[in-house]
Amino acid sequence: MAEIKNFVFLIFSFLIFPLSLSSPVIMPMLPDVFFSGEVSFPGVGIPMGQWSVLHKSVGISAMHMQLLHDDHIVIFDRTDFGPSNLSLPVGRCVSSSEDGLDCTAHSILYDVASNTFRPLTVVSDTWCSSGSVDPTGKLIQTGGYALGERVIRTFTPCNARDDLTCDWNQLPVSLSSRRWYASNALLPDGRVIIVGGRGSHNYEFFPKPPGQFSGKFPLQFLYDTWDGRNKENNLYPFLHLLPNGHLFIFANNKSIEFDYVTNRVIKKFPVMPSPERRNYPSTGSSVLLPIDGNSTSPDLEILICGGAFPDSFDFANKSIYVAASRSCGRMVITDPNPQWIMEKLPMPRVMPDMVMLPTGDILIINGAGNGTAGWENADNPALNPVLYRTGDPDPNQRFIVLNPTKTPRMYHSSAVLVSDGRVIVGGSNPHVNYNFTPGVKFPTELSLEAYSPPYLDQQYAVLRPSILAVETESMVVTYGQMVSVTYVLGLYKRETMGNVKVTMLLPPFTTHSFGMNQRLVVLGEERVEQLSTFAYKVTVKVPENVNVAPPGFYLLFVVHVGVPSHGVWVQLKSDLLS
Ligand SMILES: *[C@@H]1O[C@H](CO)[C@@H](O)[C@H](O)[C@H]1NC(C)=O
Ligand SMILES: *[C@@H]1O[C@H](CO)[C@@H](O)[C@H](O)[C@H]1NC(C)=O
Ligand SMILES: *[C@@H]1O[C@H](CO)[C@@H](O)[C@H](O)[C@H]1NC(C)=O
Ligand SMILES: *[C@@H]1O[C@H](CO)[C@@H](O)[C@H](O)[C@H]1NC(C)=O
Ligand SMILES: *[C@@H]1O[C@H](CO)[C@@H](O)[C@H](O)[C@H]1NC(C)=O
Repeated sequence: MAEIKNFVFLIFSFLIFPLSLSSPVIMPMLPDVFFSGEVSFPGVGIPMGQWSVLHKSVGISAMHMQLLHDDHIVIFDRTDFGPSNLSLPVGRCVSSSEDGLDCTAHSILYDVASNTFRPLTVVSDTWCSSGSVDPTGKLIQTGGYALGERVIRTFTPCNARDDLTCDWNQLPVSLSSRRWYASNALLPDGRVIIVGGRGSHNYEFFPKPPGQFSGKFPLQFLYDTWDGRNKENNLYPFLHLLPNGHLFIFANNKSIEFDYVTNRVIKKFPVMPSPERRNYPSTGSSVLLPIDGNSTSPDLEILICGGAFPDSFDFANKSIYVAASRSCGRMVITDPNPQWIMEKLPMPRVMPDMVMLPTGDILIINGAGNGTAGWENADNPALNPVLYRTGDPDPNQRFIVLNPTKTPRMYHSSAVLVSDGRVIVGGSNPHVNYNFTPGVKFPTELSLEAYSPPYLDQQYAVLRPSILAVETESMVVTYGQMVSVTYVLGLYKRETMGNVKVTMLLPPFTTHSFGMNQRLVVLGEERVEQLSTFAYKVTVKVPENVNVAPPGFYLLFVVHVGVPSHGVWVQLKSDLLS
């Protein structure tokens, strides 16, 4: 299938560029503005991206989303929202909460390519839970609410496209602590660490070491960052794996480097020099900037944007919605003397999702301009996504305001990147139950939309690489391996040969504005050869260090002058794991 598409593309490119064999083609207008200064053009008529509605209703509200390596997205909300607008298969009902029997679905499997979905069955409450995809590609989902708060569920991708049998599986083992508003991180040994949650100032692992049945470990940092009942500001802590194997943990306005093996704080980072709080309910977002995969101990930089001021939650209770945070903090966390550098968002934003794009730029999307996370706590929806151009040396040039959606995406909304480079956006429900009452402010959103970032604009089609093959067996890559990727371009231009990079993205589990495990590695030691008029081969090195890129399924992209190819899935495997 992919080969046929590429072949058609090749023929197509001959048709539109018949002269390119003998004479160079004139470059189309290519504004530098999106490409972090790689190509220079005036910013006239630049595309700002496009929105399209995929489904007016998928029957449930996309509170949690995870893209799997068969290009399906597992989407779910909660089982105690009341009946959803999507029935379970005939005859199936579950009693997943105190509310009694429910014959509607609270999870779906969305097929990106066909834009279709089918109901899945969750049998306990998944409200405000967390997840990670393990190195075999299986989704490990942890916790939730009430009867679901200690439950571990898995979802294994189906064996074939027409296989409609795969569904949630609830494990017989339980979590050691209640995990409601906890965060997860995939560890280099393939385990998952689950940190925090309401009332759980501790962490645990899955799977547990043999014989260790109640293994949970205290984390003082979660006491220190807790602003008290009804305030909290440290739920859904931000977790990022460091190149030395330790964990970076951020909550409220503080952060630490933590050794989860010895339960020791290795380092305390400076407090973010700004009055806002960044974690639930003062929800901001956090992302690791692109990682240099050529180094075994690369610098790691973090960007945290948005959030709320300390009194916003109390004011929201009185229906006064304070303007949200307008700042981001950026810090090189591997620096011996790390310091926050503050940057200014184009607009105030609470509950933003930060989506890592294949190019290494970041899309800041969803959320609101006033208030906080929580029931009925926000107003003034932030309809315009913002592009953060990571590599621009001038902080004042980094943010670009993009085309708005018409649909507010408030509390309980989410966004994920898919392999064709679009961002799928869904959810929003700031109400205790599904609420479709006419005239209600911010009714429950069951719709799914796609946002196509500027790089997908038609005018860049000739610059877009199309991957023909990744020269490795069964799409498996290993640590330190040199791997060649062949691709075609519709444009013959020798000068752009060097303007190519290969990136690998670990797709996140997304909820409550945090993309757990999201990381983009830029592969090093790159060499580009031209094979024929339109075909090229780029050879790159897979990172050597498991902490730089933990094992699992990654989307691999070739990015040419800032225009990414369609992503292809590769499995990064470690010899140490069977
Ligand atoms: C969902 O179902 C409710 C109740 O049947 C209905 O009022 C509402 O319009 C439906 N919403 C969507 C988006 O289909
Ligand atoms: C950080 O948060 C704590 C409360 O958790 C607060 O006491 C402190 O003043 C805050 N620091 C700054 C710089 O705002
Ligand atoms: C404000 O908080 C109180 C106490 O938690 C609650 O009973 C009340 O319903 C809240 N009011 C609003 C408008 O959210
Ligand atoms: C949002 O905050 C700004 C600044 O405080 C205020 O002027 C505006 O009225 C607020 N908007 C809403 C909808 O509450
Ligand atoms: C990658 O690392 C090697 C060895 O340290 C170095 O020689 C090479 O220049 C680096 N390449 C890039 C593209 O950074």
